[in-house]
Amino acid sequence: MNRQRFANWTLGYLMLAASHTALADKITVTPMTDEQAPVIARHIYGQFSEHLGRGIYDGVWVGEDSNIANTRGIRNDVVAALKAIQVPVIRWPGGCFADEYHWRDGIGPRQQRPVRKNNWWGGTPEDNAFGTHEFFDFVEQIGADAYISVNVASSTPTQMREWIEYMTSTGQDTLANERRSNGREQPFGVPFIGIGNESWGCGGNMTPEYYSNLYRRWAAFFHKNGSNFHQQNDNKALRVASGANNLDTNWTKVVMEQAGHGMDAISLHFYTLWTGDWPKRNEAAATEFNQDHWFEILYQASRMEEVLQAHEKVMDKIDPDKRIGLYVDEWGTWYNTEPGTNPGHLYQQNTLRDALVAAISLNIFHQHADRVRMANIAQTVNVLQAMLLTEGAAMAKTPSYYVFKMHLPFHDAKLLPLRYTSPQLTAPSGKFAAISLSAALPKEGGVVISLANSELTQQHELSVNLGDLQLTNVSGEILTADSLDAHNLPGKPETVSPSHFTGATLDNGNLTVNLPAKSVVVLRVR
Ligand code: AHR
Repeated sequence: MNRQRFANWTLGYLMLAASHTALADKITVTPMTDEQAPVIARHIYGQFSEHLGRGIYDGVWVGEDSNIANTRGIRNDVVAALKAIQVPVIRWPGGCFADEYHWRDGIGPRQQRPVRKNNWWGGTPEDNAFGTHEFFDFVEQIGADAYISVNVASSTPTQMREWIEYMTSTGQDTLANERRSNGREQPFGVPFIGIGNESWGCGGNMTPEYYSNLYRRWAAFFHKNGSNFHQQNDNKALRVASGANNLDTNWTKVVMEQAGHGMDAISLHFYTLWTGDWPKRNEAAATEFNQDHWFEILYQASRMEEVLQAHEKVMDKIDPDKRIGLYVDEWGTWYNTEPGTNPGHLYQQNTLRDALVAAISLNIFHQHADRVRMANIAQTVNVLQAMLLTEGAAMAKTPSYYVFKMHLPFHDAKLLPLRYTSPQLTAPSGKFAAISLSAALPKEGGVVISLANSELTQQHELSVNLGDLQLTNVSGEILTADSLDAHNLPGKPETVSPSHFTGATLDNGNLTVNLPAKSVVVLRVR
């Protein structure tokens, strides 16, 4: 697929549509069935779980002696909910936390593990009850891949090498035997390892040149199977370089140029913030917001498109064959914390607006699937744009969770590029498309279409010509609510959950959709 051409085409039509907003209530969508298109990696539906606030402790780990139902200390309700959305990968242990973490703190008998101060997140005592073995127990219970983030800023290549050997060695060496004596005979499966996190900020305040040199040094001791002399190594992980924030393309350029040969992917962090301005992130509340706040946050989420385009432009020059993946390994909304909670714990509610943010972002990732091969929403439980919120033994599934659930047919499906013209909406900081769409061809056959309408009251009619595909049946689910800040609370009946969608009809291959305002819809056409 030629995305630049597509971007120009879409932009042209968006501008046209902006001047004709009043007329734009019927939208024609054309699937480009003859275009080459990538597979949407299921890892785009990944999660990020940091030792932060109640993300791990309470959210995942309650301990074996807890009254809350658990398996070896890990909450059963959380595991069941995450299994149901087929979480493909979890990034751990940070975040900023990762660059102060020593893996040895989290192995061996729990009562002998040291208690550290979690300096980044509220100074909270970290008793290391959840360490390497507990993390792998968690991902194995869910059926997810592990994505380990190693400490670069306050550590050594030796520390990284030894942790990797501890996790992956099949030999009779001391580290593998230590793992065995801690209860794990077989090596842990480690498909992804991040070398540093936000190395431009909390991960060491480095320049891209300095980080590139460090990356090259760390990569030399990574001993990846198949690289240089390491043809038979136990470490088969992909190496992920610490990437840029937002539109800092210079970081991507320098790190790719100076260290690209030794990496399999580079990361990117992009948070949806009030006005897009980091210091103002606490000026927006997760609930009880006005219409301006609805539009501004959705506008900011839609900026993921320009951010990806900017980094891909740089990457395409240096790596035209697209060998190196772009992993958006932190994304999502960041609001002021809930009143009465520790501001260092980043606990926020999650509403219908967050569901729209999730759908808009996922639709953008789908369009960029040729380069974006992983994304990890921040963060799985009780932190930022979480899937799940817990309170004691109670748990709520958030509207964002339900968006991930509805999009399951997109996992590893082949992108079906669409052409369409969206009316535009006006937010305080800019204009954005009212309608966000993407489609794919799942392995089981048929077509899956994701639709999100950011309008407050205006329904839109869409017409999709699927005539080429010989399909006869349409079904779907909708996520919507009366109030913009509708949300679910642990232990209370749900206010937002998907329901059967009746607004789509298929007639001789012509699909007509009446897409309600403030809704996310996913359709299966077979
Ligand atoms: O997700 C919270 C924090 O945001 C992460 O620790 C850090 O990487 C980012 O700044």
